[in-house]
Amino acid sequence: MTEIPVISGRAVLEAIDPRTAIERTREAFERYARGVWEMPAKVYLDSPPYGDFRAMPARGDGLALLKWVTSFPGNSAKGLPVVRGEVLVSDAETGEELAVIECSSVTSLRTGAAAAVSAQVLALDEARSVGIVGCGVNGTWSARCLAAAGYGDGVCADVRPEAASALADELGWRVGDRAEAVAQDVVVTVTPGIEPVILAGELRPGQHLAVLGADAHGKQEVELDAIELCTLFCDEWEQASAGGELANGVEAGVVSRGDVTQLGDVLIGSSQWTRSDAEITLFDSTGLAIQDLAICQAIYERWREGGLEAPVVSL
Ligand SMILES: NC(=O)c1ccc[n+]([C@@H]2O[C@H](COP(=O)([O-])OP(=O)(O)OC[C@H]3O[C@@H](n4cnc5c(N)ncnc54)[C@H](O)[C@@H]3O)[C@@H](O)[C@H]2O)c1
Repeated sequence: MTEIPVISGRAVLEAIDPRTAIERTREAFERYARGVWEMPAKVYLDSPPYGDFRAMPARGDGLALLKWVTSFPGNSAKGLPVVRGEVLVSDAETGEELAVIECSSVTSLRTGAAAAVSAQVLALDEARSVGIVGCGVNGTWSARCLAAAGYGDGVCADVRPEAASALADELGWRVGDRAEAVAQDVVVTVTPGIEPVILAGELRPGQHLAVLGADAHGKQEVELDAIELCTLFCDEWEQASAGGELANGVEAGVVSRGDVTQLGDVLIGSSQWTRSDAEITLFDSTGLAIQDLAICQAIYERWREGGLEAPVVSL
């Protein structure tokens, strides 16, 4: 009989702080870029007209995982989370199940952490101010991770004023409109991607944009004209070109593989890119299973050390 912990979202968020998430996420991008961690392509299962399910496997450091996760954009209006699901963690040598972990908490930590890592690697050294467009679950965690990485003050913008105020109050930042948020040094967009929230005419040299909301085909947060102004980066080309923000540019014929650098390649120095003061960097995050692995590895280690409470079930 196999006995495994079932780890709640609350236990995850109590055990893993944004700094740990950022460090682990950075390492995940590096290990994937070096070919040490493996990740087949994410599988989408559409559930029209509501959203989609995604199956996301990864393997590295003796662990393998499968994340089974949703994106149901209409859920916000129903008072339900857009993103929900579970992660199954297994031993990569024996195939034994090791843990079941609530997935929204893992998603939030690794998504927010990716925004922070992208700013650390791609923003100007002197960049400090932050604009958050979309202050829901993952926008909030992006802001928390950027704050933990030393960024801020910030401007919080959301079509739901209460979401923007809650985040601004928590971090000591301020509420602003979308255009004010887009004027900051580091701009993070985490909306459902129904309409562009970054317009070409609003950008200025030296900014860094982390666009996180468009993580499936048909979503868009950035005007095509704005994409053409930017130096382009992504988490992983196959995913980003098929279902990320950059997919819109690929379909329109204005973005191709040679225009885009993967973040991990900058981290390990295999890209020749160095930043100029004038360029605008854009990081397209679609969310990778290796990021989930990074967070789940930290969670599982913490549980084994006795630093995390979880019920154990027999399978
Ligand atoms: N890249 C990734 O790794 C990743 C990870 C998780 C979620 N996502 C995607 O990010 C998006 C948001 O997910 P979430 O879980 O944070 O959802 P959420 O519903 O918790 O938050 C979305 C927020 O955006 C706000 N919003 C909607 N339209 C807006 C607009 N035009 N301007 C400003 N604010 C607006 C909503 O009011 C809401 O507060 C989804 O598309 C989701 O699929 C991406």
